Amino acid sequence: MSAPNKSYDPVEVEALKPEEIERMRDEALAAFESAADLDALTHAKTAHTGPTSPLSLANREIGALPPQAKAEAGKRVGMARGAVNKALAARLAVLEAERDERVLVEEAVDVTLPYDRTPAGARHPLTTFMERVADVFVAMGYEVAEGPEAEAEWFNFDALNFVPDHPARQMQDTFFVQDADGAKSDESGVVLRTHTSPVQARALLERREPPVYVVCPGRVYRTDELDATHTPVFHQIELLAVDEGLTMADLKGTLDHMVQALFGAGMKTRLRPNYFPFTEPSAEMDMVCYVCRGESVGNPDRPCRTCGSEGWIELGGCGMVNPKVLVACGVDPQKYSGFAFGFGIERMLMFRHNVEDMRDMVEGDVRFTRPFGMEI
Ligand code: DAH
Repeated sequence: MSAPNKSYDPVEVEALKPEEIERMRDEALAAFESAADLDALTHAKTAHTGPTSPLSLANREIGALPPQAKAEAGKRVGMARGAVNKALAARLAVLEAERDERVLVEEAVDVTLPYDRTPAGARHPLTTFMERVADVFVAMGYEVAEGPEAEAEWFNFDALNFVPDHPARQMQDTFFVQDADGAKSDESGVVLRTHTSPVQARALLERREPPVYVVCPGRVYRTDELDATHTPVFHQIELLAVDEGLTMADLKGTLDHMVQALFGAGMKTRLRPNYFPFTEPSAEMDMVCYVCRGESVGNPDRPCRTCGSEGWIELGGCGMVNPKVLVACGVDPQKYSGFAFGFGIERMLMFRHNVEDMRDMVEGDVRFTRPFGMEI
Protein backbone atom coordinates (compact mmCIF):
# COMPACT_ATOMS: atom_id res chain seq x y z
CA MET A 1 0.00 0.00 0.00
CA SER A 2 1.48 3.40 -0.92
CA ALA A 3 1.95 6.14 1.71
CA PRO A 4 -0.43 9.12 1.65
CA ASN A 5 0.58 11.74 -0.86
CA LYS A 6 1.98 14.55 1.33
CA SER A 7 1.95 17.07 -1.47
CA TYR A 8 -1.68 16.44 -2.28
CA ASP A 9 -3.74 19.62 -2.01
CA PRO A 10 -7.28 18.97 -0.83
CA VAL A 11 -8.44 22.24 -2.32
CA GLU A 12 -7.68 20.72 -5.66
CA VAL A 13 -10.24 17.96 -5.03
CA GLU A 14 -13.21 19.79 -6.40
CA ALA A 15 -15.82 17.60 -4.69
CA LEU A 16 -14.44 18.21 -1.23
CA LYS A 17 -14.35 21.98 -1.27
CA PRO A 18 -16.41 23.41 1.61
CA GLU A 19 -18.73 25.34 -0.67
CA GLU A 20 -19.24 22.22 -2.79
CA ILE A 21 -20.18 20.16 0.26
CA GLU A 22 -22.54 22.93 1.37
CA ARG A 23 -24.09 23.04 -2.05
CA MET A 24 -24.65 19.28 -2.05
CA ARG A 25 -26.20 19.47 1.42
CA ASP A 26 -28.44 22.38 0.48
CA GLU A 27 -29.56 20.70 -2.70
CA ALA A 28 -30.48 17.62 -0.72
CA LEU A 29 -32.38 19.66 1.87
CA ALA A 30 -34.22 21.53 -0.86
CA ALA A 31 -35.09 18.29 -2.66
CA PHE A 32 -36.53 16.79 0.52
CA GLU A 33 -38.44 19.92 1.32
CA SER A 34 -40.01 20.03 -2.13
CA ALA A 35 -40.89 16.31 -2.18
CA ALA A 36 -44.67 16.46 -2.20
CA ASP A 37 -45.34 12.85 -1.30
CA LEU A 38 -43.63 9.68 -0.10
CA ASP A 39 -42.81 8.50 -3.62
CA ALA A 40 -41.07 11.77 -4.45
CA LEU A 41 -39.22 11.58 -1.15
CA THR A 42 -38.01 8.06 -1.97
CA HIS A 43 -36.57 9.37 -5.23
CA ALA A 44 -34.92 12.31 -3.51
CA LYS A 45 -33.53 9.96 -0.89
CA THR A 46 -31.86 7.77 -3.52
CA ALA A 47 -30.55 10.80 -5.38
CA HIS A 48 -29.06 12.47 -2.30
CA THR A 49 -28.10 9.67 0.07
CA GLY A 50 -27.76 6.65 -2.25
CA PRO A 51 -24.38 5.14 -3.16
CA THR A 52 -24.03 7.33 -6.27
CA SER A 53 -25.24 10.56 -4.65
CA PRO A 54 -22.77 13.49 -4.69
CA LEU A 55 -22.20 13.27 -0.94
CA SER A 56 -21.50 9.53 -1.05
CA LEU A 57 -19.07 10.02 -3.90
CA ALA A 58 -17.41 12.89 -2.01
CA ASN A 59 -17.16 10.65 1.02
CA ARG A 60 -15.29 8.13 -1.06
CA GLU A 61 -12.72 10.72 -2.09
CA ILE A 62 -11.73 11.35 1.53
CA GLY A 63 -9.64 8.22 1.80
CA ALA A 64 -7.16 9.53 -0.75
CA LEU A 65 -6.38 12.75 1.21
CA PRO A 66 -3.34 13.34 3.44
CA PRO A 67 -4.09 12.93 7.20
CA GLN A 68 -4.78 16.55 8.13
CA ALA A 69 -6.93 17.25 5.11
CA LYS A 70 -8.65 13.89 5.62
CA ALA A 71 -9.81 14.86 9.13
CA GLU A 72 -11.16 18.21 8.00
CA ALA A 73 -12.89 16.89 4.92
CA GLY A 74 -14.26 13.92 6.90
CA LYS A 75 -15.76 16.25 9.47
CA ARG A 76 -17.28 18.46 6.79
CA VAL A 77 -18.75 15.61 4.81
CA GLY A 78 -19.89 13.83 7.97
CA MET A 79 -21.73 16.90 9.22
CA ALA A 80 -23.32 17.46 5.85
CA ARG A 81 -24.50 13.85 5.68
CA GLY A 82 -25.78 14.07 9.25
CA ALA A 83 -27.81 17.17 8.37
CA VAL A 84 -29.13 15.48 5.23
CA ASN A 85 -30.23 12.36 7.12
CA LYS A 86 -31.89 14.41 9.80
CA ALA A 87 -33.78 16.48 7.23
CA LEU A 88 -34.80 13.28 5.46
CA ALA A 89 -36.15 11.73 8.64
CA ALA A 90 -38.04 14.90 9.51
CA ARG A 91 -39.62 15.15 6.06
CA LEU A 92 -40.47 11.44 6.12
CA ALA A 93 -42.27 11.86 9.43
CA VAL A 94 -44.25 14.81 8.07
CA LEU A 95 -45.24 13.01 4.84
CA GLU A 96 -46.17 9.80 6.65
CA ALA A 97 -48.36 11.69 9.06
CA GLU A 98 -50.05 13.44 6.13
CA ARG A 99 -50.59 10.11 4.39
CA ASP A 100 -52.05 8.50 7.50
CA GLU A 101 -54.43 11.35 7.96
CA ARG A 102 -55.49 11.26 4.32
CA VAL A 103 -55.98 7.48 4.32
CA LEU A 104 -58.19 7.73 7.38
CA VAL A 105 -60.43 10.14 5.51
CA GLU A 106 -60.26 8.57 2.03
CA GLU A 107 -60.63 4.98 3.12
CA ALA A 108 -63.19 5.51 5.83
CA VAL A 109 -66.04 3.01 5.60
CA ASP A 110 -69.46 4.07 6.67
CA VAL A 111 -70.75 0.87 8.16
CA THR A 112 -74.15 2.44 8.64
CA LEU A 113 -74.78 2.87 4.89
CA PRO A 114 -77.56 0.61 3.62
CA TYR A 115 -76.31 -2.24 1.43
CA ASP A 116 -78.67 -4.34 -0.63
CA ARG A 117 -76.32 -7.00 -1.92
CA THR A 118 -75.39 -8.91 1.21
CA PRO A 119 -74.84 -12.48 -0.03
CA ALA A 120 -77.34 -14.74 1.64
CA GLY A 121 -75.80 -17.52 3.69
CA ALA A 122 -77.49 -20.82 4.34
CA ARG A 123 -77.79 -23.14 7.27
CA HIS A 124 -75.89 -26.36 6.86
CA PRO A 125 -78.05 -29.18 5.45
CA LEU A 126 -76.82 -31.47 8.23
CA THR A 127 -78.37 -29.12 10.77
CA THR A 128 -81.60 -28.58 8.91
CA PHE A 129 -82.01 -32.24 8.09
CA MET A 130 -81.31 -33.30 11.67
CA GLU A 131 -83.92 -30.83 12.86
CA ARG A 132 -86.38 -32.14 10.33
CA VAL A 133 -85.94 -35.68 11.61
CA ALA A 134 -86.33 -34.49 15.20
CA ASP A 135 -89.49 -32.59 14.20
CA VAL A 136 -91.08 -35.81 12.93
CA PHE A 137 -90.86 -37.15 16.48
CA VAL A 138 -91.68 -33.89 18.24
CA ALA A 139 -94.92 -33.99 16.28
CA MET A 140 -95.61 -37.39 17.88
CA GLY A 141 -95.01 -36.05 21.38
CA TYR A 142 -91.34 -36.89 21.81
CA GLU A 143 -89.04 -34.47 23.64
CA VAL A 144 -85.65 -33.42 22.32
CA ALA A 145 -82.91 -34.48 24.75
CA GLU A 146 -79.28 -33.52 24.55
CA GLY A 147 -76.15 -34.67 26.31
CA PRO A 148 -72.52 -33.56 26.49
CA GLU A 149 -70.08 -34.35 23.67
CA ALA A 150 -67.28 -34.90 26.20
CA GLU A 151 -69.04 -37.76 27.95
CA ALA A 152 -68.36 -39.96 30.93
CA GLU A 153 -67.10 -43.35 29.84
CA TRP A 154 -69.76 -44.79 32.12
CA PHE A 155 -72.60 -43.28 30.06
CA ASN A 156 -70.96 -43.95 26.71
CA PHE A 157 -70.18 -47.61 27.47
CA ASP A 158 -70.91 -49.06 30.95
CA ALA A 159 -74.51 -47.96 31.29
CA LEU A 160 -75.12 -49.39 27.83
CA ASN A 161 -73.85 -52.83 28.76
CA PHE A 162 -70.54 -52.70 26.90
CA VAL A 163 -68.30 -55.20 28.70
CA PRO A 164 -64.97 -53.79 29.94
CA ASP A 165 -62.94 -55.33 27.10
CA HIS A 166 -65.42 -54.53 24.31
CA PRO A 167 -63.44 -53.60 21.19
CA ALA A 168 -65.31 -50.31 20.77
CA ARG A 169 -63.60 -49.08 23.94
CA GLN A 170 -60.16 -49.31 22.34
CA MET A 171 -58.04 -46.23 21.74
CA GLN A 172 -58.16 -46.87 18.00
CA ASP A 173 -61.91 -46.28 17.90
CA THR A 174 -62.49 -43.82 20.70
CA PHE A 175 -61.06 -40.41 21.51
CA PHE A 176 -60.18 -40.43 25.19
CA VAL A 177 -59.97 -37.05 26.91
CA GLN A 178 -56.84 -36.46 28.93
CA ASP A 179 -57.01 -35.48 32.60
CA ALA A 180 -55.80 -31.99 33.51
CA ASP A 181 -53.24 -33.63 35.81
CA GLY A 182 -51.77 -35.51 32.83
CA ALA A 183 -52.89 -39.01 33.80
CA LYS A 184 -52.94 -41.47 30.93
CA SER A 185 -55.78 -40.38 28.68
CA ASP A 186 -57.56 -43.74 28.65
CA GLU A 187 -57.77 -43.62 32.44
CA SER A 188 -59.49 -40.25 32.73
CA GLY A 189 -62.97 -41.77 32.50
CA VAL A 190 -63.95 -39.15 29.90
CA VAL A 191 -64.35 -39.78 26.16
CA LEU A 192 -65.70 -37.86 23.20
CA ARG A 193 -68.98 -39.71 22.83
CA THR A 194 -68.83 -42.30 20.08
CA HIS A 195 -72.59 -42.35 19.58
CA THR A 196 -75.73 -40.58 20.79
CA SER A 197 -76.85 -43.66 22.75
CA PRO A 198 -75.48 -42.34 26.10
CA VAL A 199 -78.25 -39.73 25.95
CA GLN A 200 -80.67 -42.67 26.40
CA ALA A 201 -79.16 -43.41 29.79
CA ARG A 202 -79.08 -39.73 30.74
CA ALA A 203 -82.73 -39.29 29.75
CA LEU A 204 -83.81 -42.28 31.82
CA LEU A 205 -81.84 -41.13 34.87
CA GLU A 206 -83.01 -37.53 34.57
CA ARG A 207 -86.68 -38.34 34.17
CA ARG A 208 -86.66 -41.20 36.69
CA GLU A 209 -90.13 -42.58 36.01
CA PRO A 210 -91.25 -43.62 32.53
CA PRO A 211 -93.01 -42.95 30.25
CA VAL A 212 -89.92 -41.56 28.51
CA TYR A 213 -90.11 -40.55 24.85
CA VAL A 214 -87.03 -38.72 23.67
CA VAL A 215 -85.23 -37.96 20.43
CA CYS A 216 -81.53 -37.12 20.75
CA PRO A 217 -79.75 -35.46 17.83
CA GLY A 218 -76.09 -34.64 18.16
CA ARG A 219 -72.46 -34.72 17.17
CA VAL A 220 -70.36 -37.82 17.78
CA TYR A 221 -66.68 -38.69 17.37
CA ARG A 222 -64.62 -41.67 16.23
CA THR A 223 -60.94 -41.97 15.39
CA ASP A 224 -61.52 -42.26 11.63
CA GLU A 225 -59.50 -40.40 9.02
CA LEU A 226 -61.45 -37.95 6.89
CA ASP A 227 -62.11 -39.45 3.45
CA ALA A 228 -64.97 -39.81 0.99
CA THR A 229 -66.95 -42.10 3.29
CA HIS A 230 -65.61 -41.37 6.80
CA THR A 231 -65.27 -38.37 9.03
CA PRO A 232 -64.00 -38.30 12.62
CA VAL A 233 -66.83 -35.96 13.61
CA PHE A 234 -70.32 -36.79 12.45
CA HIS A 235 -73.95 -36.66 13.53
CA GLN A 236 -76.43 -39.20 14.74
CA ILE A 237 -80.01 -39.11 15.82
CA GLU A 238 -81.21 -41.45 18.50
CA LEU A 239 -84.68 -42.41 19.59
CA LEU A 240 -85.75 -43.88 22.91
CA ALA A 241 -89.21 -44.87 24.05
CA VAL A 242 -89.75 -46.53 27.43
CA ASP A 243 -93.26 -47.20 28.63
CA GLU A 244 -95.51 -50.01 29.78
CA GLY A 245 -96.18 -52.66 27.17
CA LEU A 246 -93.99 -51.44 24.31
CA THR A 247 -93.08 -54.14 21.80
CA MET A 248 -91.11 -54.55 18.62
CA ALA A 249 -94.28 -53.85 16.69
CA ASP A 250 -94.22 -50.32 18.13
CA LEU A 251 -90.62 -49.97 17.00
CA LYS A 252 -91.46 -51.15 13.50
CA GLY A 253 -94.49 -48.84 13.24
CA THR A 254 -92.42 -45.89 14.43
CA LEU A 255 -89.69 -46.61 11.87
CA ASP A 256 -92.22 -46.89 9.06
CA HIS A 257 -93.80 -43.63 10.08
CA MET A 258 -90.42 -41.92 10.11
CA VAL A 259 -89.37 -43.02 6.62
CA GLN A 260 -92.77 -42.05 5.24
CA ALA A 261 -92.49 -38.62 6.83
CA LEU A 262 -88.98 -38.13 5.45
CA PHE A 263 -89.10 -39.90 2.10
CA GLY A 264 -92.75 -39.97 1.11
CA ALA A 265 -95.85 -42.13 1.22
CA GLY A 266 -95.51 -45.87 0.68
CA MET A 267 -92.01 -46.14 2.17
CA LYS A 268 -91.40 -49.04 4.52
CA THR A 269 -88.63 -50.60 6.56
CA ARG A 270 -87.35 -54.08 7.28
CA LEU A 271 -85.34 -55.43 10.20
CA ARG A 272 -82.41 -57.84 10.05
CA PRO A 273 -81.01 -59.54 13.16
CA ASN A 274 -77.88 -57.94 14.58
CA TYR A 275 -76.14 -57.42 17.90
CA PHE A 276 -75.80 -54.31 20.06
CA PRO A 277 -74.99 -54.59 23.77
CA PHE A 278 -77.73 -52.15 24.76
CA THR A 279 -80.63 -53.70 22.86
CA GLU A 280 -82.02 -57.22 23.00
CA PRO A 281 -83.11 -58.33 20.49
CA SER A 282 -81.17 -56.02 18.18
CA ALA A 283 -81.64 -55.38 14.50
CA GLU A 284 -80.22 -53.55 11.55
CA MET A 285 -82.90 -51.44 9.89
CA ASP A 286 -83.20 -50.95 6.15
CA MET A 287 -85.64 -48.82 4.22
CA VAL A 288 -86.97 -49.45 0.74
CA CYS A 289 -84.88 -47.60 -1.80
CA TYR A 290 -86.76 -44.36 -2.30
CA VAL A 291 -85.47 -44.02 -5.87
CA CYS A 292 -86.33 -47.39 -7.47
CA ARG A 293 -88.69 -48.58 -4.71
CA GLY A 294 -87.26 -52.05 -5.17
CA GLU A 295 -87.97 -52.26 -8.87
CA SER A 296 -84.29 -52.54 -9.79
CA VAL A 297 -83.96 -55.88 -8.02
CA GLY A 298 -83.42 -58.64 -10.59
CA ASN A 299 -84.16 -56.13 -13.33
CA PRO A 300 -80.97 -55.42 -15.33
CA ASP A 301 -82.86 -52.97 -17.56
CA ARG A 302 -83.46 -50.68 -14.61
CA PRO A 303 -80.29 -50.54 -12.54
CA CYS A 304 -80.38 -48.23 -9.49
CA ARG A 305 -77.30 -46.32 -8.41
CA THR A 306 -78.75 -45.28 -5.06
CA CYS A 307 -79.22 -48.79 -3.66
CA GLY A 308 -76.86 -50.65 -6.02
CA SER A 309 -79.98 -52.52 -7.27
CA GLU A 310 -80.40 -54.06 -3.81
CA GLY A 311 -83.83 -52.49 -3.37
CA TRP A 312 -83.00 -51.60 0.22
CA ILE A 313 -80.86 -48.96 1.91
CA GLU A 314 -79.26 -49.57 5.28
CA LEU A 315 -80.24 -46.92 7.81
CA GLY A 316 -78.84 -47.85 11.22
CA GLY A 317 -79.32 -49.95 14.33
CA CYS A 318 -82.31 -50.55 16.55
CA GLY A 319 -83.84 -52.92 19.03
CA MET A 320 -85.67 -53.42 22.31
CA VAL A 321 -83.83 -51.72 25.19
CA ASN A 322 -81.79 -54.35 27.03
CA PRO A 323 -83.26 -54.87 30.54
CA LYS A 324 -79.71 -54.46 31.87
CA VAL A 325 -79.71 -50.87 30.60
CA LEU A 326 -83.07 -50.24 32.26
CA VAL A 327 -81.69 -51.61 35.55
CA ALA A 328 -78.50 -49.51 35.28
CA CYS A 329 -80.74 -46.47 34.88
CA GLY A 330 -83.06 -47.32 37.77
CA VAL A 331 -86.04 -48.45 35.67
CA ASP A 332 -87.95 -51.60 36.61
CA PRO A 333 -87.74 -53.99 33.62
CA GLN A 334 -90.64 -56.03 35.00
CA LYS A 335 -92.93 -53.09 34.57
CA TYR A 336 -91.45 -51.24 31.62
CA SER A 337 -90.02 -52.06 28.23
CA GLY A 338 -88.60 -49.84 25.56
CA PHE A 339 -87.32 -49.56 22.04
CA ALA A 340 -84.51 -47.51 20.60
CA PHE A 341 -82.84 -46.74 17.34
CA GLY A 342 -80.01 -44.62 16.06
CA PHE A 343 -78.58 -43.71 12.69
CA GLY A 344 -76.06 -41.45 11.05
CA ILE A 345 -77.25 -38.18 9.56
CA GLU A 346 -74.35 -37.80 7.10
CA ARG A 347 -75.07 -41.16 5.51
CA MET A 348 -78.74 -40.39 5.18
CA LEU A 349 -78.03 -36.98 3.68
CA MET A 350 -75.61 -38.63 1.24
CA PHE A 351 -78.07 -40.99 -0.30
CA ARG A 352 -81.03 -38.60 0.01
CA HIS A 353 -79.20 -35.93 -1.99
CA ASN A 354 -76.65 -37.97 -3.93
CA VAL A 355 -73.71 -36.42 -2.10
CA GLU A 356 -70.80 -38.55 -3.20
CA ASP A 357 -68.00 -37.26 -1.01
CA MET A 358 -68.39 -36.78 2.73
CA ARG A 359 -65.64 -34.16 2.73
CA ASP A 360 -68.02 -31.79 0.93
CA MET A 361 -70.14 -31.79 4.08
CA VAL A 362 -67.39 -30.71 6.43
CA GLU A 363 -65.44 -28.19 4.38
CA GLY A 364 -67.92 -25.40 5.01
CA ASP A 365 -68.02 -24.15 1.42
CA VAL A 366 -71.21 -22.18 0.99
CA ARG A 367 -71.46 -23.38 -2.64
CA PHE A 368 -72.25 -26.83 -1.24
CA THR A 369 -74.78 -25.50 1.23
CA ARG A 370 -76.71 -23.06 -0.97
CA PRO A 371 -78.52 -25.55 -3.22
CA PHE A 372 -80.17 -26.99 -0.13
CA GLY A 373 -82.02 -23.73 0.27
CA MET A 374 -82.26 -21.01 2.84
CA GLU A 375 -84.29 -23.03 5.31
CA ILE A 376 -84.27 -21.44 8.78
N1 DAH B 1 -75.29 -46.47 18.80
C1 DAH B 1 -75.21 -47.36 17.66
C2 DAH B 1 -74.02 -46.97 16.80
O1 DAH B 1 -73.55 -45.89 16.89
C3 DAH B 1 -76.45 -47.28 16.83
C4 DAH B 1 -77.65 -47.85 17.54
C5 DAH B 1 -77.94 -49.17 17.44
C6 DAH B 1 -78.47 -47.02 18.29
C7 DAH B 1 -79.02 -49.73 18.10
C8 DAH B 1 -79.59 -47.57 18.94
C9 DAH B 1 -79.85 -48.91 18.82
O2 DAH B 1 -80.41 -46.82 19.67
O3 DAH B 1 -80.95 -49.42 19.45
O4 DAH B 1 -73.57 -47.77 16.04
